[in-house]
Amino acid sequence: MLSSATLNTIAEQLHTAGWCVIDLALPELTAQRLATHAIALPDAVLHRAGVGRSAQRQTLDTLRRDTIVWLEPNSPSDVSDHLWLGAMAQLQAYLNRHLFLGLKTYEAHYARYTIGAFYGRHVDAFKGQSNRFISTVYYLNADWPIDIDCGGALLLYVGVEPNQDATHIAPVMGRLVVFLSEGTAHEVLPALRTRHSIAGWFRCGAT
Ligand code: OGA
Ligand code: MN
Repeated sequence: MLSSATLNTIAEQLHTAGWCVIDLALPELTAQRLATHAIALPDAVLHRAGVGRSAQRQTLDTLRRDTIVWLEPNSPSDVSDHLWLGAMAQLQAYLNRHLFLGLKTYEAHYARYTIGAFYGRHVDAFKGQSNRFISTVYYLNADWPIDIDCGGALLLYVGVEPNQDATHIAPVMGRLVVFLSEGTAHEVLPALRTRHSIAGWFRCGAT
């Protein structure tokens, strides 16, 4: 489902820059199917995300306000989950083969940012501490305006220095962002309209 050109671009840019943005990463029908599913998820199915793992797990209003639901690899009723997880399995195999990464598992959740929701500056993994190795975000907002500011941009800080310039990435339909989890600080600006996405992580070791 990911074309070989797309796979090649992701591998190359991860290797040279540590991040990349791919527009129209999947076929249009696949993107539409994922978007339809994400938009139709009832609020009752989504829940506030925690921050941190196990003992320190908590919801921090000041850090993030999105609501999420994890994709279920084992629920055959959900075609959308399989479409996305299939594409990511393809990416995992490609990166393992071409960059020798040893990625072992992939986990992902749908995320909904309602108006005003944001995710403050953070990294998905701290060096040496965890095994989240590569982050993915895929956007599902078909009518996201490009000429007016609707907030909700992903700001990607390459490296972790506090004052460096960030790359602004609008969450437009079909756009895939991939970056190294360790040490890539990023944030989501408050959304001015509801914003749908799938965020996911490849891990190297045991969870
Ligand atoms: C995350 C995250 C970015 C985005 O869920 O960890 O950083 O653009 N998401 O949704
Ligand atoms: Mn993140």
